[in-house]
Amino acid sequence: MSIRLEVFDDEQWTARVAERWLAYMKDHPAARLCLPTGETPRPVYDRVAQDGDFRESTVFLLDEFDLPVGNPGRCDQMIQHDFLDRLPQPIPVLHRLDFAAASPAEECWRIEDLVDDGGLDLTLLGLGGNGHLGLNEPGSLPSSTTRVVEVAPATAAATHRYGTVEPPERGMTLGLRPILDSREIWLFVTGSHKAAILERMMISPISPDVPATFLRDHANATVFADRSAAGRLSSGVAE
Ligand code: PGA
Repeated sequence: MSIRLEVFDDEQWTARVAERWLAYMKDHPAARLCLPTGETPRPVYDRVAQDGDFRESTVFLLDEFDLPVGNPGRCDQMIQHDFLDRLPQPIPVLHRLDFAAASPAEECWRIEDLVDDGGLDLTLLGLGGNGHLGLNEPGSLPSSTTRVVEVAPATAAATHRYGTVEPPERGMTLGLRPILDSREIWLFVTGSHKAAILERMMISPISPDVPATFLRDHANATVFADRSAAGRLSSGVAE
């Protein structure tokens, strides 16, 4: 199997990716989507919210940090601010992992059952600086289920970019198994600070050391990178 790599000029990246997603939604208005949060998808959400129609779609949030309600670093806060609040019409069905549930472990099983009941048509992902997908940190197996995890120190420290003061210690994440079961996966990677990990993900051995390498075993995965992130790679298909 192979993974596609599409590289766009930095200034073009947001518009080109947004175009692709809008075209996808036209063809699949009732798509079951899994969406990430963070800095990478933010400009795409801003653009897509202007013209996208999500009235028939179902959305799952990829992950969540164990942070107090109202903390700007919470994934539900970010998706609300970056995307949902900008849509002219609300998304009717939105599922998120909720630390306020009586049992966080059962909450993970509940969400995983909902995902499996129809699967995911399209999963969008960002690439962690340590190669994580969602909060599937290094060491995560491709069979991993949706679960409560310890946030890796580098991931916790990086949340200051989202406005957290106290870094989160725990998170919840869709497991690699339901993510990799998605019919289609798009990985968004931008900025020169992601160049080294993107290169590692594309050419180092497929292994839990860099969970994103498992995307190379997926039948329908595409990396959308800007030139700053993909400087060390050439576009096309990587084995
Ligand atoms: P970022 O996060 O888009 O904020 O860089 C990506 C990730 O950690 O998965």
